[in-house]
Amino acid sequence: MNYNKKSIEDIQVAGKRVLCRCDFNVPTKDGKITSDKRIVAAMPTIEYLVNQGAKVILCSHMGKPKGEWKPELSLKVVAERISQLLGKEVIMASDVAGEDSKAKAAALRDGDVMLLENTRYIKGETKNDPELSKALSELADIFVNDAFGTAHRAHSSTAGVADYLPAVSGYLVQKEVSIMGKALANPERPFVAILGGAKVSDKLNVINNLLEKVDTLIISGGMAYTFLAAQGYNVGKSLVDNEKLEYCKEMMAKAEAKGVKLLLPADTAVADSFPNPIDAQLAVDYVDCTAIPEAKMGLDIGPKACEAFAAAAKAAKTVVWNGPMGVFENPTLAKGTIAVAQALADSEAVTIVGGGDSAAACEQLGFADQITHISTGGGASLEFLEGLELPGIACLQDK
Ligand code: 3PG
Repeated sequence: MNYNKKSIEDIQVAGKRVLCRCDFNVPTKDGKITSDKRIVAAMPTIEYLVNQGAKVILCSHMGKPKGEWKPELSLKVVAERISQLLGKEVIMASDVAGEDSKAKAAALRDGDVMLLENTRYIKGETKNDPELSKALSELADIFVNDAFGTAHRAHSSTAGVADYLPAVSGYLVQKEVSIMGKALANPERPFVAILGGAKVSDKLNVINNLLEKVDTLIISGGMAYTFLAAQGYNVGKSLVDNEKLEYCKEMMAKAEAKGVKLLLPADTAVADSFPNPIDAQLAVDYVDCTAIPEAKMGLDIGPKACEAFAAAAKAAKTVVWNGPMGVFENPTLAKGTIAVAQALADSEAVTIVGGGDSAAACEQLGFADQITHISTGGGASLEFLEGLELPGIACLQDK
């Protein structure tokens, strides 16, 4: 896929109506935003458009309302936050591309900012309905996609609208693509990828694609037990995806054929069962992965694995990390994930955290400033690591 796309700096935006798709799918609790990271990440593009004198029409989805007007998923709370960050009014439309949006878009003055309602209030959005794409395009002269987190979705507001308007990237999309694109295409070596997460089936293509690129691939988290089972070890009651044992063998053979070092955890935290509730107090033992007792379940990596993974991160020039090492929602089982976050923070390598739970872990632990790049995409960064074409980027004009 060609990532050399035109950006907002390659097109004249002054005085133009610019429809800017952002990813304002932010977590909320009791009507309040609990992390404004994605809003903050969109601000450079919004500020640039305002300063250039564009008439800015922002849009985004929030949650999965599936065509229903669920008030708890209204973007009003996002408009308030942007307004605070920008220090100026953000005009809120009461619909997506309906009468209110049209009237408010038509009345915008240069430098004004408005926000449409949740694009997923309209059923056609997730179906990439040309009728909605066209209606959105009629609000504006130019389309800017800055929603990296939603770039893996071929929806009306992320891709379809680009059929009707000149389409370019915003600063966030540009930054995500250039940092992660460079790491994958032309990394400084040694290049180490650390993959965690519960299921092998979620990472099939990521593992396969990264084996083409990295020098060392660390497979950890819940996934590791299926790999260990494929090596013939007894993993007790640990999570094993029996249908993927053959796949794991193929990946291990591929690593060997390519000269990629494939590292699995040497030891693991075990308990009698999965914690219920997830943060319940738990008695754990640490055992070698080659000696997991029959009645026990592996739920985090052990100290030997933490040390080995940290050493690999220290020796690397590029590190990509995606997925927790254990059931990190439970403090007793968060040690492995914390150790990896710490190792990335301490490493002098280019360090990239591919969104989702691992990004949240780095932020909660206060390591965000010590990581080169924390992606705003969860599913999008995973698909990027898989080497897939992202529709929200493919639809933009090439340079
Ligand atoms: C995300 O949070 O990963 C993006 O906003 C995409 O949301 P979605 O998974 O509901 O499409």
